Amino acid sequence: MTSRLLVLGGTHFLGVHVVEAALARGHEVATFSRGVSGAPPPGARALHGDRDDPAALPAALDGWTPDLVVDTSAQTRAAADNAAAVLGGVSGYAFTSSLNAYRTWPPGPVPDEQSPTWDTPDDEYGPVKAHAERVLAAALPGRFLTARAGLVVGPHDRLYRLGWWLDRIAAGGRVVVPDALDQPIALVDARDLAGWLVQAAERGLAGPVNATGPAGMTTLGGLLDTCRTVTGSDAEWVPVPEDDLLAAGVQEWVHLPLWLRAETARTAWDVGTARARELGLPSRPLGDTVADTWAWQRSAPRPTPPAGRPLPGLPADLEARLLAG
Ligand SMILES: NC(=O)c1ccc[n+]([C@@H]2O[C@H](COP(=O)([O-])OP(=O)(O)OC[C@H]3O[C@@H](n4cnc5c(N)ncnc54)[C@H](OP(=O)(O)O)[C@@H]3O)[C@@H](O)[C@H]2O)c1
Repeated sequence: MTSRLLVLGGTHFLGVHVVEAALARGHEVATFSRGVSGAPPPGARALHGDRDDPAALPAALDGWTPDLVVDTSAQTRAAADNAAAVLGGVSGYAFTSSLNAYRTWPPGPVPDEQSPTWDTPDDEYGPVKAHAERVLAAALPGRFLTARAGLVVGPHDRLYRLGWWLDRIAAGGRVVVPDALDQPIALVDARDLAGWLVQAAERGLAGPVNATGPAGMTTLGGLLDTCRTVTGSDAEWVPVPEDDLLAAGVQEWVHLPLWLRAETARTAWDVGTARARELGLPSRPLGDTVADTWAWQRSAPRPTPPAGRPLPGLPADLEARLLAG
């Protein structure tokens, strides 16, 4: 049945895929964003305002009453509080939270959704997501699903983590990699998550769900090998032990994106996703995700870093020192 579906966000990465999935399922779609990140895909109606302003969403809706909501943009306590005040009447609300909502992640493990979430008043990412989950669940009893997402990748991803590896591997030659290529990693394709969020809202699903790929789905080495295959590269791995990387000043996750030191990686990727699988969250083949991300990346401008933050990736001088041994 066609519904009026509001996407909070909808102009950036996951939200773009949510809009496309919702339109493909025949919904009448509106997006709500500040208008800073660009326009939503064609076919969606673009509403503008700042979620942190309590008056903005009612003014933008202007009588257009949504039946369903997919929320991909809550990054502040006010954003969640304001949405809870206005959107409590919808029949399904699917929210993008994070594994960071758990007090114990990272490093984890997270066996299931019963692990404790943050309840502190600070404005860090995890506590804010946990706060958002609580206020929205209270406003939408039995109709609020919170997807605690792990690593999300795919086309339109401007965080440039998988993207950096694709570019670096495509450039070929000797490539510094952590020697722990057998460390686990799990990820979810943004398109799989987006389509599932739309259907979760339609079905009025409720409760928390660890929304990522199955534990053990691949390894860091498996992912990098897939990047090498997809880019058709002749890259040669130069494995460097963890202690040497850290001693050289290589920052895990930042300089070598997606790499975590062994002690953290062992548990951080050990996340129980039985509920996600029961509720139908798909996990497409890794090769498809990497190939489609590479195809998009070749046609898209490289991302510019948010103010004051470097893009992820190994600085050239650091790479040269590590390769020199
Ligand atoms: N990427 C990952 O690996 C990962 C992992 C776990 C969880 N998540 C979660 O997944 C969700 C989606 O991530 P994403 O990278 O696709 O999106 P995002 O960067 O969190 O959100 C961007 C969207 O929100 C809008 N927006 C931002 N601030 C706004 C404000 N104050 N008022 C109204 N709209 C605002 C943006 O448009 P304007 O800029 O035009 O306003 C844009 O449409 C997020 O909630 C994120 O926390 C991501």
